[in-house]
Amino acid sequence: MESWSDLLSNLESDETESIFLATCDQRLSHPSTTYPPPELPRHDSGVSGVAVEDDTKPLRRSNAASSLPANSATTISRRERPTQDDLDSAVWVSTKQNGIVQYWAPRYADVHHHNTAENVRISHMASVRSAVVAQNTPKACTAVDLASGAGSFAFSHAAAGVHKVLCWDANPWSIEGLRRGAIKNGWHIRVYSGDSKSVKMHSKTRVMAFCESGNNALVRVRGLKDSLPPVRHVNCGALPTSREFCETAVAILDPRLGGWIHVQETYRMEEVIFKANKTRLEFEAIVEGLDKERGFLTQANGIKRKPVVQHIQRIGSDVPGMFHCIIDIHVPPLPI
Ligand SMILES: C[S@@+](CC[C@H](N)C(=O)[O-])C[C@H]1O[C@@H](n2cnc3c(N)ncnc32)[C@H](O)[C@@H]1O
Repeated sequence: MESWSDLLSNLESDETESIFLATCDQRLSHPSTTYPPPELPRHDSGVSGVAVEDDTKPLRRSNAASSLPANSATTISRRERPTQDDLDSAVWVSTKQNGIVQYWAPRYADVHHHNTAENVRISHMASVRSAVVAQNTPKACTAVDLASGAGSFAFSHAAAGVHKVLCWDANPWSIEGLRRGAIKNGWHIRVYSGDSKSVKMHSKTRVMAFCESGNNALVRVRGLKDSLPPVRHVNCGALPTSREFCETAVAILDPRLGGWIHVQETYRMEEVIFKANKTRLEFEAIVEGLDKERGFLTQANGIKRKPVVQHIQRIGSDVPGMFHCIIDIHVPPLPI
């Protein structure tokens, strides 16, 4: 087996740094070091627990689409259709990173904190900062997370000053965590369920959340187009892959201004660059197909838009040899 020193000597310095950062993140985010026992609220690790619930209930499964324990009708209804009482009496934990508070119910919802460096990176991206400065001009922007979880990506945009942030998550517990977090951070939030027909964006609303599949985003964004700044940042936020959201992400991005799609994927360490470029190629095909469909690209005229990988952020690792990455893909505007 290859020794660590052999392995490390073959890596670029940024790859070595990513390994050490990922190791630190993994240790810091391990459940035994961050989740307090439900009956003992703690404030010493940066994670606080609130409320108490029956510890004998079966634990939740982590993915919204995953199958549920066959023998637990209680868990199914709590998880998929929680009552207000379920929400009020559950264990909620919170954390504050870079001044941003997030809440989640560890029994019922995935939580995925980007490392603190990633939150700072998002808030300081030149593309995000310029959109904030351009608020109330045609260059202002809306940011979207198609699988928002507790809101790490979404809240980083709101904290940076992005005026409107739209979130989707299929798990009602994630949306409730998002709602609690937004309120705690002082951002007005409106939450809609999947069957909501009448959706309105109010001027004071900073975060709008939909409890439904992220693939409904296109219909919702079309319905809101007169009250939204152009969509310029889209996070394809599901793990371990965001593949199911690629087409929706391209379709909701403003074609005249272009924008950024942040794709979350899990790659083998040695394949990160190769796979990121493969993902880029997939986006190129989707952009071309959609531009043709929308009449922007005909045989007689039009130039193909070529998405570019602007940055790859290796943000953590749950499995040895695999990296959870965020790939920032810039989709250029339609040529005038
Ligand atoms: C890793 S967490 C989200 C992290 C978040 N995007 C961020 O950047 O901070 C993944 C979330 O995807 C949600 N999810 C999975 N499939 C989904 C779907 N089809 N539509 C909406 N949400 C989905 C899960 O409920 C979970 O909350």
